[in-house]
Parts: sequence; C-alpha cells; structure tokens
Amino acid sequence: MSVCTSEIAVTGAEYLAAMTVRASDRRARAAFQSLAMDVAGPAATVFDFGAGPGVDARCYAEHGRRVVAYDIDPGMAAFFAEYCQDLIRDERVELHTGSYQDFLARGAFCQQRVNLVTANFAPLSLITDLRELFACFAWMTRPDGAVLASVLNPYFLGDLRYGWWWRNAYRLLRDGHYSLPGAQGNIVRRGLDDFSRQCAPHFVLQRVFAAPSAVSLSTRGYAAPTGRGLACLRLTACRFMFLLFRKPVRRSASHADGLLV
Ligand SMILES: C[S@@+](CC[C@H](N)C(=O)[O-])C[C@H]1O[C@@H](n2cnc3c(N)ncnc32)[C@H](O)[C@@H]1O
Repeated sequence: MSVCTSEIAVTGAEYLAAMTVRASDRRARAAFQSLAMDVAGPAATVFDFGAGPGVDARCYAEHGRRVVAYDIDPGMAAFFAEYCQDLIRDERVELHTGSYQDFLARGAFCQQRVNLVTANFAPLSLITDLRELFACFAWMTRPDGAVLASVLNPYFLGDLRYGWWWRNAYRLLRDGHYSLPGAQGNIVRRGLDDFSRQCAPHFVLQRVFAAPSAVSLSTRGYAAPTGRGLACLRLTACRFMFLLFRKPVRRSASHADGLLV
C-alpha cells in the first residue's frame, strides 16, 4: 500500500524514512508538534487528520494528549497501527481508516468533541473541496476548538525554478488556487484568501506561521492591514505554512450545538 509525498507513491516505512532525512522537515515537524500542543493545551483531545505513519499521534499521546487519528490510506493506517500499538492498546490513541465519504458522513468517527484538529505535512493540500471538510471539523470540535494545518505554500520562492509554478501563477492570482496531479489525486496550492473563503462560515483563518520557525507573522490574524503584506513577504522562504483556524466567536457555539446530538 502506498501514500504520496508529492508526485510519487511510497509505503509507510519509506515515507517515514524520507521525512526524517531533511533537517528542514525535522525542524518543521518539531515546530508543528510544539505549536499543536500549545494550542491544544494539556490533557486535550487532538484529532489528527491525514495522520500518516503516526509520528505526531505518538508525540501528542506521549505528552499527555488523547489522540483520535484518521487516514484514508489503509497501508499507512496499518503502519500506524504497528508504530503506535502500545498507545492504541492503552487507549491513548484511537485509529480510523476508511473512505473519505464515510469520514465526512459519520462525523469523523468521533464520539466526543475535540479541542484541536491537526493536519501536518499537507493533507489539506490533497483535498479539492475544503468547505465540506471544514463543516465536518466544525461538527467535531468544541465551541472553542481550533484547526491547525501545515499546507503547501504557493508563495514559496524555491518553487520558481519549476515550469509548473510559472504556468499556474496567473491562476493563483485569478482563482486563489491551482491543482497539479499527484499520486493520490490532485495536489492543490491555495493562497491565504482562498483558505479564508473555504473555511467560512465555520472557522476564520486567525494566524499564519512561517514554517519551520513557527513564528507568528501577525498577532492579530493575517488579515490585519499591516499583517498581510508582511506575511506574504516572509512566507516566500517557506515550503510549508502553518495555518490556525478558530471558530468565530458566538456564532461557533450555536452552530456546533445545533449540529451535535
Ligand atoms: C504527506 S502525508 C502527511 C502524513 C502525516 N500527517 C505526517 O505528518 O507525516 C499526507 C497524508 O494525508 C493522507 N490523506 C490524503 N487524502 C486524505 C483524505 N481525503 N482523508 C484523510 N487522509 C488523507 C495520506 O494518506 C497521507 O497519509
């Protein structure tokens, strides 16, 4: 069974090995994990979407968080089950796999609302329609819950050497996003405004972090008048960006209450 890292398909073990080679990937993972645990708080429940081999799930559980994880790829889930078998046995980690439609329809397999949804190393960049996914995230998170996602950065200067970047630059400006074919389907690169549109009305894009430093580019949310230009400038050095989505105040509570039985 295989999963994609970019345009190629690899097994869970190969993926894990590949993701530990580059120092920048290791730094990005450490920064994301640390940020996720800060945002979630101690003793929180974290839902890891597109959990892959279970590296983050293991880290969160070993640091006192309860983890529910989902990955669409059965091979990746099999690797996860072995990698986290002790934590699964102790009920500190719960793993789900199955079709994406089932995931959306069955409320993400969650029996209880979670504090934080995480999606590290770009699972959201593999989803064409983020609106239905954010609706699902809204259903499964507490009224003060959040989503923290690491996504592919369309503003990364390092990609300018590729023809596909130039061929799609106009589409990014015009449509706010563009797609390229990958091993598991399309890989979507979205601008910040597109994420803001896609997460509404359930969430607002509150903060943008330049990975791997995880330094917040704006303390008032990326849309602050002086924050956005600066954010885009600093983001050009990063392959990934970390996005923090929060439920809108007031509206979130009534919406989540209305959906939850
Ligand atoms: C690049 S890997 C990231 C894995 C892991 N989060 C990590 O930090 O290493 C992307 C993951 O997203 C999963 N994925 C892709 N489409 C998905 C979907 N529709 N629902 C859930 N997981 C999905 C893939 O199977 C893969 O494990």
